[in-house]
Amino acid sequence: MAGGEQVVRNKQVILKNYVTEGLPKESDMEVREGSIQLKVPEGTKDAILVKNLYLSCDPYMRNCMKKLETSFYVASFETGSPLSGYGVAKVLDSTHPDFKNGDFVWGMTGWEEYSLITAPDRLFQIQLTDVPLTYYTGLLGKFISMLTMLHFSARYFPEGIDIYFENVGGKMLDAVLLNMRVHGRIAACGMISQYNHDRPEGVHNLMHIVGKRVRLQGFLVADFYHLYPKFLEMIIPYIKEGKIAYVEDIAEGLERAPAALIGLFTGRNVGKQLVVVSRD
Ligand SMILES: NC(=O)c1ccc[n+]([C@@H]2O[C@H](COP(=O)([O-])OP(=O)(O)OC[C@H]3O[C@@H](n4cnc5c(N)ncnc54)[C@H](OP(=O)(O)O)[C@@H]3O)[C@@H](O)[C@H]2O)c1
Repeated sequence: MAGGEQVVRNKQVILKNYVTEGLPKESDMEVREGSIQLKVPEGTKDAILVKNLYLSCDPYMRNCMKKLETSFYVASFETGSPLSGYGVAKVLDSTHPDFKNGDFVWGMTGWEEYSLITAPDRLFQIQLTDVPLTYYTGLLGKFISMLTMLHFSARYFPEGIDIYFENVGGKMLDAVLLNMRVHGRIAACGMISQYNHDRPEGVHNLMHIVGKRVRLQGFLVADFYHLYPKFLEMIIPYIKEGKIAYVEDIAEGLERAPAALIGLFTGRNVGKQLVVVSRD
């Protein structure tokens, strides 16, 4: 043990093989045990070593399980390596000026007990620890949906749809396009019905965009990180006053992580699906 740093077990969820068509299976992933030194390696600048507490199961991760040949908004996972995704973690060691031991952070981390993060540019400090830390895997982390929904405040009119918040895609989008009103708007956030297909289903009613002068725009959370402090200012009082009822579906332990991730696509989860790696 160099310099007396502790080496500990590091349980990890590994992608065994790429999954093209259909639902991923638990056997496409493997929970294995490695080891890790609880210290940023000597000479590694701007890195942090974290203990992962809570991991978020997100639909976009299905796209990362494919071998993506063309440029996409996410990258493929590497087979034989741990999955990565959003999570909440505690900093155990740091050579980065913005992070110190004991800080709680949320953002991109590994599906493992401990992660060495060499480019922590996609991590946020958690300042408010008087709301449940698990909320940063969902409500307080993936804030694009909340921001867009609150901004557009979607309404339904029997005469047609003025504003549609798109998260499903495929046949749903086709049906919506038929029913849009003139000058309607579509905020496209995700298309979960397509993620298990190797080739996405076609959309047949696109011409309605022209006839009805519909405006359709895509949104990615990463483009709005600069609004995060403003979002917290708005949302925290609602949480503290109990005006937001937030439901979580919690899987205990990395062993249950593969099933929890797959469950997103079969309607298994009720509320935000997350995995507890450790509670402290
Ligand atoms: N643009 C961005 O930056 C961004 C960021 C985060 C998420 N997203 C997108 O937002 C959407 C929701 O993600 P989330 O994080 O909020 O996850 P989530 O709450 O866990 O949503 C997953 C839910 O999608 C439903 N679903 C699964 N397959 C479906 C299908 N074929 N057709 C219709 N519904 C289906 C299931 O609902 P039931 O249980 O009711 O079946 C499942 O519980 C996804 O499309 C995701 O890609 C986009």
